[in-house]
Amino acid sequence: IPLENIRNFCIIAHIDHGKSTLADRLLEITGAIKINSGMQVLDKLQVEKERGITVKAQTVSLKYMLNNKEYQLNLIDTPGHVDFSSEVHRSLAACQGVLLVVDANDGVQAQTVANYYLAHGNKLKIIPIINKIDLKNANPEKVEQQLSTIFGINGDEIIKISAKHGTYVDEVLKAVVERIPKPTCVRDKSLKVLIFDSWYDSYRGAVLLVYIKDGIISTGDRITSCNTGKSYEVKLLLLLRPEEEKVNKIYAGQVGCIICKMKYDEASIGDTLYLYGNPVEPLPGFNTTKPMVYAGVYPVDSSQYHSLKNAMDKLTLNDNAVSIINESSPALGQGWRLGFLGLLHMEVFSQRLEQEFDTPSIFTTPGVVYKAKIFGKKNITHYKSDEVYFCNPSHIPNISIVKEMYEPTVLGTIITPGDYYQSILHFCLERRGIEKSNKNIDESRIILQFILPLNEIITDFHDELKRMTSGYASFDYEDYGYQLSDIAKMEILLNGRPVEELSTIVNMSKSVSKAKKICAKLLNVIPRQQFLISIQARIGSKILARENLPALRKDVTAHLYGGDVTRRIKLLQNQAQGKKKMRMIGNIALPRKVFVDLLKT
Ligand code: GTP
Repeated sequence: IPLENIRNFCIIAHIDHGKSTLADRLLEITGAIKINSGMQVLDKLQVEKERGITVKAQTVSLKYMLNNKEYQLNLIDTPGHVDFSSEVHRSLAACQGVLLVVDANDGVQAQTVANYYLAHGNKLKIIPIINKIDLKNANPEKVEQQLSTIFGINGDEIIKISAKHGTYVDEVLKAVVERIPKPTCVRDKSLKVLIFDSWYDSYRGAVLLVYIKDGIISTGDRITSCNTGKSYEVKLLLLLRPEEEKVNKIYAGQVGCIICKMKYDEASIGDTLYLYGNPVEPLPGFNTTKPMVYAGVYPVDSSQYHSLKNAMDKLTLNDNAVSIINESSPALGQGWRLGFLGLLHMEVFSQRLEQEFDTPSIFTTPGVVYKAKIFGKKNITHYKSDEVYFCNPSHIPNISIVKEMYEPTVLGTIITPGDYYQSILHFCLERRGIEKSNKNIDESRIILQFILPLNEIITDFHDELKRMTSGYASFDYEDYGYQLSDIAKMEILLNGRPVEELSTIVNMSKSVSKAKKICAKLLNVIPRQQFLISIQARIGSKILARENLPALRKDVTAHLYGGDVTRRIKLLQNQAQGKKKMRMIGNIALPRKVFVDLLKT
């Protein structure tokens, strides 16, 4: 296929606006799948089917005839949720154009805005599409007005379709050929290949999804990685249509898969490959997406440490947005601290660990990375810089050397019907937000921007926002850097002794309510013992909350009659054995479950 006849594009849209449905229709029209096969072909993972969302970007090469010419259209389907935006970023690197899909009823949403600017910033041709025109309350004229107000898009550029019924979908294919430019590649230059995704296959090892930027790759070629300098023999080349099709060559401008016995820890997304002995300037990789939230991950049982580690290594090959470092906790044992792009990302990761690798695990409550500016390094030997980053409360620098504390913030965009303005404003202020702007986008909807502490949005912010607006508001955020913040370490004391692994980092304005909440929770989860336990939360020397857990005399031998001394001794020994497995705080025995319950809240 000559370069002139290749088009690389992806579909971007707010969640549920119909990307996957449109992709299915495009596949049907071009004969890649049978009509009415009744399934979303591109959503392959079990989590995707269960949750009805796209997590991984998928890729497929379509054959399309227009005016007696055969075209190859490479379609990359991308996820819509904010947490998976790293997938979108990567997909765009192999594309020259995008289909921007907007629901005719919902209109422009927060993610539409983010996606538009992403595509625009990458200088890609944008084909605006209004989908679901078949819906009873579809209002394509209003959406057209929004697209014009927000992005300055002309009405005559917009294609109005129903992906569900296939109405005007062929217009979309025509526009792909006519409006999106051919790839900018050179076939008679040295081979230059961009790895933009990879996954692990138990039979074939790492499978690399690549974009051939220059040259031609053939089976049997020897290729070298710019990153590691290691070389491999190309065993197999595949096009995805969407079924795998073996080919002998893949030409510049095309997207396909390489299997070359690369080990999974050597396959890094964003790496450039070249022909052995013909080194090239590496392609600009991807800005490694910065994890936003961190959580501790531990095996349910310490004997599962190695199988969990193995599973995580394989899964991160397919999801390189996750970062991993080793961590251990006296209560939970050996584990790791993982960084994620958001909460849904974390949930999906833990679900995939369990479903695809059959390895259950314990995830602790996620947190963010704080920053402290400390007084000059002169007298403080163990810090290398006067800026210290930490997410674990036990790493917070001593207050006596701290000049200022900072926490990460985001710029949040909310699109909502105007009626909810007051309640959203109240909600965001309560979450320590600062309103930055508000603007009408048509007669009933507004677009709001808030600066919010990341910590306030990582757990239930999105769910709450949806609940209070009956699902009408949408939310997206981008990094807004570190801002001064009044944070401190809150310690938990049991009978006066601090329990390090129960410490948390809190904002002073919320410290009392948080202290009360944790003490009440501990009161519920700590098993009663034979003496009274006082549970206290404190910051510095100030006690913020207190609960008392009454004593209980647990006589394990009470139900034994008479004087069978040996049985009695055995029982007492068993009880002592049980205690060994517990974490002892002074004379208080805490089962692992207490930490799991508390850290998981
Ligand atoms: P994510 O991949 O999770 O971001 O979602 P998506 O954008 O791929 O949306 P999807 O294609 O899964 O469609 C979401 C819902 O809208 C599904 O229930 C579709 O059946 C429905 N839908 C998609 N297109 C149309 C359409 O043209 N008309 C109508 N009535 N419904 C549609």
